[in-house]
Amino acid sequence: PSASGKGVTSRRLAQMLGLLTVDTGAMYRTLAWHCLRMKVDVNDDKKVAALCRKWKTSLVVADGHVRLLVDGYYPATEIRTSEASAAVAHVAQIRAVRDWMKAKQRECIQFGSLVMEGRDIGSNIFPETDYKFFLDASPEVRKFRRERDGVKEDVHARDKRDSQRAHSPLMPSLGAMIIDNSHQVVQETCDIMLEELNVRRKANRLAPLKPVA
Ligand code: C5P
Repeated sequence: PSASGKGVTSRRLAQMLGLLTVDTGAMYRTLAWHCLRMKVDVNDDKKVAALCRKWKTSLVVADGHVRLLVDGYYPATEIRTSEASAAVAHVAQIRAVRDWMKAKQRECIQFGSLVMEGRDIGSNIFPETDYKFFLDASPEVRKFRRERDGVKEDVHARDKRDSQRAHSPLMPSLGAMIIDNSHQVVQETCDIMLEELNVRRKANRLAPLKPVA
């Protein structure tokens, strides 16, 4: 869920493992921003789906992240505005958008092993992975984190929309280790995850995780 620490934790974990990260929320946010600038109503599923079919995107690696560019541009700050945040859960519940995102997110494997972060990665994007984690924190802690970050947004409304949508709702997936990090610092969460990765790797005799050279 929002403010569960998934972004900062996945970035730190990726650093520890020497892997790239993929922020899939940024991909949905980029589409929401693209709709806003193209003046496409985010509540109009057909128009959003049509835009998503024809927008010009590419995947690139920059600073340890796999990024989705639109028209060769990564809208780093634009996708964090309150307008983009309010629009994103609308575009994210559209079936055609989710199908497009799934294909694009699976393409990221061309860059090697990844730490991929998002609400449906273990359940829908890479259900075959042995390494799944579901991060959570109490509503009070999540609210506090958002306020501390200075973000003015009704995250509960967004979480509700994300959890109740028909296609790939937010929920822990089968085989995921659930971690409540309300009272943990990022490093503690990463250490728990790293230990679990090693346990699973040994138990299933899996090859070490490594990026493509
Ligand atoms: O993680 P972040 O808050 O940036 O995600 C923004 C929004 O994108 C979420 O509220 C959700 O609507 C959508 N999203 C999604 N599936 C993902 C990642 C994000 O539906 N895998």
